[in-house]
Amino acid sequence: MIIVSGFDVKPGLDPWLPGSRNAFAGGVYSAPMSTTTTKHPSPDPRTAISTAFSEAIEKTLGSDFADADPLIRNTTNPEMGDFQCNAAMGLAKRVGKPPRDLAQELIDVVELADIADTPEIAGPGFINIRLKPETLANALAGMDDETLGVKTSDDTRPVVVDLCGVNVAKQMHVGHLRSTIIGDSLARVLERRGRMVLRENHLGDWGLPIAMVLHRLRENGTDLDALTLTELDAAYRDAQAGAKGDAKGLEAALTRQCGPHRVAELEAQQSGSDEQRKAASETLVALQQGDEELVRDWNKLIDVTMRAVYEALNLLNVSMGPDNNRGESFYKDSLHSVIEYFESNKLCRTDDGALVVDFDDRKRPLLIRKRDGGYLYATSDLAALRHRTQETGAGRCIYVVDARQRDHFRDVFDATRQAGWGRTSDGHDVELVHVPFGSIMGPDKKPLKTRSGTNLTLASLLAEAIERGTREVKARSENPSAPTHGLDDESIAQIGRDVGIGAVKYADLSNDLVRDYVFDMDRMIAFEGDTGPYLQYAHARICSMLHKAGEADIDQAPLQLGDPTERQLALVLLKYGSVVEDVARTLEPHRLCGYLHEVADAFNSFYQACPVLKAEDDALKRSRLRISSLTRRVLADGLGLLGIGAPDRM
Ligand code: ARG
Repeated sequence: MIIVSGFDVKPGLDPWLPGSRNAFAGGVYSAPMSTTTTKHPSPDPRTAISTAFSEAIEKTLGSDFADADPLIRNTTNPEMGDFQCNAAMGLAKRVGKPPRDLAQELIDVVELADIADTPEIAGPGFINIRLKPETLANALAGMDDETLGVKTSDDTRPVVVDLCGVNVAKQMHVGHLRSTIIGDSLARVLERRGRMVLRENHLGDWGLPIAMVLHRLRENGTDLDALTLTELDAAYRDAQAGAKGDAKGLEAALTRQCGPHRVAELEAQQSGSDEQRKAASETLVALQQGDEELVRDWNKLIDVTMRAVYEALNLLNVSMGPDNNRGESFYKDSLHSVIEYFESNKLCRTDDGALVVDFDDRKRPLLIRKRDGGYLYATSDLAALRHRTQETGAGRCIYVVDARQRDHFRDVFDATRQAGWGRTSDGHDVELVHVPFGSIMGPDKKPLKTRSGTNLTLASLLAEAIERGTREVKARSENPSAPTHGLDDESIAQIGRDVGIGAVKYADLSNDLVRDYVFDMDRMIAFEGDTGPYLQYAHARICSMLHKAGEADIDQAPLQLGDPTERQLALVLLKYGSVVEDVARTLEPHRLCGYLHEVADAFNSFYQACPVLKAEDDALKRSRLRISSLTRRVLADGLGLLGIGAPDRM
């Protein structure tokens, strides 16, 4: 038996050992490749215009230009029209023609008969396009169903989203908050497009640090059934602190220019007085060998940790449970075969007793087995990637993890590709993506701390957000004309929770993810500005208005889009499907945040310019109610994709 940091290997159980390839029974997801999904026709006239101009370009310049991007954009100034084709300038340069002449030629042949009026040339060769009013109305009516213009993806392969990733025996930290919020939102967006999403919580639940704390608690005779997470967390820190650093392993990591995460990991794993390390090591061996008592105690640590995690997830309205937990321990029995695969395929080399994988384009190798035979975080990730690409047949594996692990994922992904696991067994390339995010800073621009200076726990942060949200909602409800006036405490608390959590989530999602941002509760909870509550409030106001109108069956009302603000609102609403598609592709939720803001602003302009309840006649009133209702649904749906609740009054 090979013992490596206490991992023993049970051949026979490992499907990846030679001769038993693909015999894996657990966690198999089939990836049906049928493409029978019904595709909703795009209601966005931009697509039709784009096609028409593509054809016009080909007709004018020949088949070499069949793939030229017609560069159709929404205009920034509604007076110029609804869309612009910006392709003439670039193309004219390529074929050596005056841009305005080429623009005119395109206009002469473009077939927009039913869609738009005759386009006009502006400036150096922009082509301005104004939709026919009935085109716009029809398009808007076309998205007015449960799809809201969001198309179903043709890709039926599952997508893995690796999120949360808490560590057993440690408090869930604000970093895990970001991973959870961002990962959940991306998962929702992908699901909204009909993708099958596997949310994977890659728990740090295995290895020497866990064994160390387990040993420590048992030695102290701690009653594990009465253990709280705070006590567990303290014991973890104790176990680490009581250990004196082992410079050797660390030195090796530093000379090999390993990334910061790996250095930190080695620091944790290789620390410890000899005595303690030995004891922890023995504990790990016994645990791995299935010592009943130890396994039971280990499970208790997981229970204590996960109970707190589930509480936080519940507050965050993220539905993940034990089914999503596939942590490091899940892969413990396959690490050996990962290494064996790398060795037998000559994908790694020995370096001072350790095993490393080299990359052509950089000096830094990836350490996959330590000199003492121990496996690393990277080894588990390789095993997980093999599982995800080869067993689940995922088309995409998305890792929502702290930007400080950038090197780690770059290396692990490249090693995965070198191993040939970057393709599914049916020959599809798998997109491996790390979605890195920055840190949450305190007002002093340093990582967020509590007032007493300790690292802020997730639970305390969420409690504060909910408390602030509730206070805000309660204060507003004192006003006799507020729609929340007279609501019982429970209802106020529910809305307050939506507002508080929505504020935190929106602040997290609305910036470029890699940027560090300052956690400023006053700013995020404000009902004005670029905040979650602003969007929730816009939604609640429409609800109140629709409620006041009390009009039924408006969803078939003929649409009239005579006012410029009505047109503008319609054009913004029509973009929803392509914005969701964009976020699914780029994995940048801030695009959706920005878009929802645009919707709220367009609605406010419309609402100021166009009386709804007091419209000139009943038909116009019903048309405007229908547009308002559609706006409300886009806001609620979009907030839902951000994981943010949309209360109907505030
Ligand atoms: N437990 C890790 C940490 O706290 C995050 C896990 C991320 N997922 C992964 N597959 N490596 O740093």
